[in-house]
Amino acid sequence: MKYAIVGTGARHAMFRDAITTTFEGKAELVGLCDVNGHRLALSAQSVPERGGNGVATYRAEHFGQMISEQKPDAVIVTVPDDLHHEYIVAAMKRGCDVMTEKPMTTDLTRLKAILDAQRETGRKVSVTFNYRYTPARTQIKDILQSGAIGEIVAVDFSWHLDRVHGADYFRRWHRYKERSGGLLVHKSTHHFDLVNWWLGSVPETVSALGRRAFYAPEMADAMGLEGRSDRCHTCPVAARCDLRMDLEKDEKLKALYLDAEDFDGYERDRCVFAADITIEDTMAVQAGYRNGAMLNYTLCAYSPWEGLEIRFHGTKGELVHKHVEVHGVFGGKREKPVDDAMTTMLHMAGEAPRQIDVWTGTGGHGGADPIMLGYLFDASGMDADLYGRSSSHVDGAWSILTGIAANRSIASGGTVNVAAMLNENGIDL
Ligand SMILES: NC(=O)c1ccc[n+]([C@@H]2O[C@H](COP(=O)([O-])OP(=O)(O)OC[C@H]3O[C@@H](n4cnc5c(N)ncnc54)[C@H](O)[C@@H]3O)[C@@H](O)[C@H]2O)c1
Repeated sequence: MKYAIVGTGARHAMFRDAITTTFEGKAELVGLCDVNGHRLALSAQSVPERGGNGVATYRAEHFGQMISEQKPDAVIVTVPDDLHHEYIVAAMKRGCDVMTEKPMTTDLTRLKAILDAQRETGRKVSVTFNYRYTPARTQIKDILQSGAIGEIVAVDFSWHLDRVHGADYFRRWHRYKERSGGLLVHKSTHHFDLVNWWLGSVPETVSALGRRAFYAPEMADAMGLEGRSDRCHTCPVAARCDLRMDLEKDEKLKALYLDAEDFDGYERDRCVFAADITIEDTMAVQAGYRNGAMLNYTLCAYSPWEGLEIRFHGTKGELVHKHVEVHGVFGGKREKPVDDAMTTMLHMAGEAPRQIDVWTGTGGHGGADPIMLGYLFDASGMDADLYGRSSSHVDGAWSILTGIAANRSIASGGTVNVAAMLNENGIDL
């Protein structure tokens, strides 16, 4: 299979390297495309040497030319979220399949454009939901689908982003709702996708609350950071700020962003306390599912630790999973547990709670990325997938609908009926 990648920022490297190294011979990279000539060249130089002129590079305005000249079978989309739909639709209309990063898109208008184009062209869209492939999360699917805890009636799910990872969503394009859909779409698409997949159901009603409590000018003032600038690079109080990002000190970030600024003015290190940020940092969602299950979900982007806690309440017992990825953040530095501290506990009614040996793996996102890449680029070399982990445009759509409805609920104060919302927007799933 021949692939082209559009968007040569941080994330695309995982796909590029998989195609050109691990899956060389099974997959071929034929084109790279980006608005930024510096990042484009940097990516092309990182491809292992091979015969010919290396990988062809194209500026964004020549995306169509890339498709007609290089004839990829599939386009991998790793541009910012609000632009996914443009390339997903353009690639399908030019006869290509698509692999897109999450979230598939950010709002209902863009979603409709993708669904209409998919219906019209019949092309395949895969959303690369790596979290489904984290062995510990796959194990939860295994336990739940075995029926061990009976009918799953309710789920309590909280996700904690620490003050390094969480802060990063407040520095660049993610921090504007119109660009990322806010964290309830950008980040929670992973979490709501997991819930949909674990439950084997889809959301029907959604209500939510959300506010920006921490990444706000008042908080910076309270921390004594008056006189700050609008980015860390030039900030006179950066040395006193635990949330600063030092682009000069990090070789990778410098090469990818600081050295590329002249091309497009993309500043990677904007102040996380800026007044013009439009996304929330604290969110609570309640959702009712088509199969009768109920979800309570919270997301906090300034937690003192990073990880997740989830509890499934079943008619026969409870399943509880906790993952502490980062113990804490001390003076801006993350301290990881010795190993990823994951625990899964099965507590059947009338029995003592039982620790389960957690399935583990190695590689990015708790061992998820290498497994997902295997299924994406060489499915014939993998075991049959017993858990239905690959995600289509339909899964991609459902994974963002909880967040889109939650955004509506935050704005209106009411409960959103998802079917009615889809109906109003002419979307049929
Ligand atoms: N699954 C995961 O765990 C995971 C992790 C990180 C990022 N992501 C997703 O990957 C995507 C990219 O994130 P990132 O961190 O690499 O962002 P980034 O900002 O580092 O990279 C985006 C790239 O797109 C380019 N770009 C911008 N506008 C463009 C246009 N009109 N045409 C072509 N190229 C354009 C930029 O120049 C940049 O090189 C996002 O959708 C994000 O949600 C997913």
